[in-house]
Amino acid sequence: MLRLALASALSLIAVCVAVNQDFISSAEIDIADCPITFYGLKYDKVYVGFDSNTSAVCFNGQFGSGPNSDCILMSRGSADRGSLTTHDTHIPTGSGLHKLLANLKHEGECVNIIPLRDGQDSDVKQIELANFGAQAVVGIKTHSRFSDISFEAQTVVNGQSYVKELFQTNQTDRGVVTDVSGCRLFGAVYKTNTSVWNGHICSTVSCDQSGVASLVSSCKPMERCQGNNTCSLDATCTVTGSTIIDVIGRVHAVADRCGYKLMETQSVPDLQVLGVFSERRRKDVSFIQRVILRLKSSNVHVSLEQGGRVTLDDRMVQFNTSEQIVAGVKITKDSSGITAEVTATSGYAASVHFNGNTAHVRVTGPKPASVSGFCGNGSTTAAAEREAALSDSG
Ligand SMILES: *[C@@H]1O[C@H](CO)[C@@H](O)[C@H](O)[C@H]1NC(C)=O
Ligand SMILES: *[C@@H]1O[C@H](CO)[C@@H](O)[C@H](O)[C@H]1NC(C)=O
Ligand SMILES: *[C@@H]1O[C@H](CO)[C@@H](O)[C@H](O)[C@H]1NC(C)=O
Ligand SMILES: *[C@@H]1O[C@H](CO)[C@@H](O)[C@H](O)[C@H]1NC(C)=O
Ligand SMILES: *[C@@H]1O[C@H](CO)[C@@H](O)[C@H](O)[C@H]1NC(C)=O
Ligand SMILES: *[C@@H]1O[C@H](CO)[C@@H](O)[C@H](O)[C@H]1NC(C)=O
Repeated sequence: MLRLALASALSLIAVCVAVNQDFISSAEIDIADCPITFYGLKYDKVYVGFDSNTSAVCFNGQFGSGPNSDCILMSRGSADRGSLTTHDTHIPTGSGLHKLLANLKHEGECVNIIPLRDGQDSDVKQIELANFGAQAVVGIKTHSRFSDISFEAQTVVNGQSYVKELFQTNQTDRGVVTDVSGCRLFGAVYKTNTSVWNGHICSTVSCDQSGVASLVSSCKPMERCQGNNTCSLDATCTVTGSTIIDVIGRVHAVADRCGYKLMETQSVPDLQVLGVFSERRRKDVSFIQRVILRLKSSNVHVSLEQGGRVTLDDRMVQFNTSEQIVAGVKITKDSSGITAEVTATSGYAASVHFNGNTAHVRVTGPKPASVSGFCGNGSTTAAAEREAALSDSG
């Protein structure tokens, strides 16, 4: 836990603490005048609650009221087994509204003070929630009525214990300050000024001084993070009109009415995906007219055509059900188009989705792999991928 030299500045705030005879054992306090950015999430309310051992200061509802609590919990240290009379049990009404704006140098700096009292209505502790620009801190100060020799403070972020520390009262009577600035990304929390590897997203996440997170993934464009520190193959190519966007995002244009090899991979060795381009109305614009799955070992052609039709070696396939296996190719038809899928052993699979205008060719599998053809990640040319048998002569 980061302790800052702010402790003495914050302990000045003590003079502001209100004395009020009315008290409450739990409260929702509006801090909209001095909102706190707790590990990257800005809050304008504080919920204070107590049970016999713990006082909780939360930002998104009373502690335990939901699964994603953002809280600061204070419990008696395990060495303390004394009576509960000096333990904080309530706060005076009207708390949290003491903003020490005047003593702070800059715009955007403010402090909320929440006094906590014991059963005899004496102040035992105070919690100070402060913002210094992008930095947010929590200060804890105990008063002389606080007789336990230690207590444990714990920050809970997204319902998970994040930082836990045991404080000696001989430290906290002078005030201790903890940094609670940070960033959040995909449900995880990162401290300000850090760079951390997160295997769940296969990325290094950096949280800068302003609380802005950025990430650098170790998975390449053809890959997807498995959530366990491994990148698997997940490559997609899109063919729309006469444009091909290959598996690493490069754009190619098809200028003629020819057949091309779109995709081939060692991972699904029996399959070639071919695209046949044609002309529609305007003579100079070609478009993807059909997509053929060619099974190399048997030289069978399963063709996905306009209007949701499917042919097997030029014979129309009748669809009795929405899913059918045609020559080992699983074909599914629905309102979004036709999907054809070929599964290889060893967990690799290739699929083609075609709706008459756009084709998506996707290859998935456990490990990164090379993809060739017009859709592939190597360097190629239109001439190299042209399929003479599927092309108009001339
Ligand atoms: C409070 O602490 C005591 C002693 O550690 C324990 O026995 C008791 O169950 C705790 N009470 C609550 C409500 O957590
Ligand atoms: C605080 O108290 C602990 C034991 O209770 C002691 O070890 C430590 O030296 C004290 N620290 C200070 C700054 O007095
Ligand atoms: C982050 O690091 C910079 C440069 O080292 C430093 O000036 C700044 O105070 C740090 N911010 C926080 C919140 O620790
Ligand atoms: C990662 O997770 C995937 C999918 O859950 C699993 O197939 C794979 O074996 C795991 N890899 C490692 C290295 O744990
Ligand atoms: C579809 O129905 C026709 C006629 O009932 C039948 O001959 C054919 O075998 C069926 N095809 C499939 C793939 O079930
Ligand atoms: C294509 O991608 C595979 C898997 O990432 C890689 O091993 C191969 O070197 C790449 N090929 C080219 C030409 O970049």
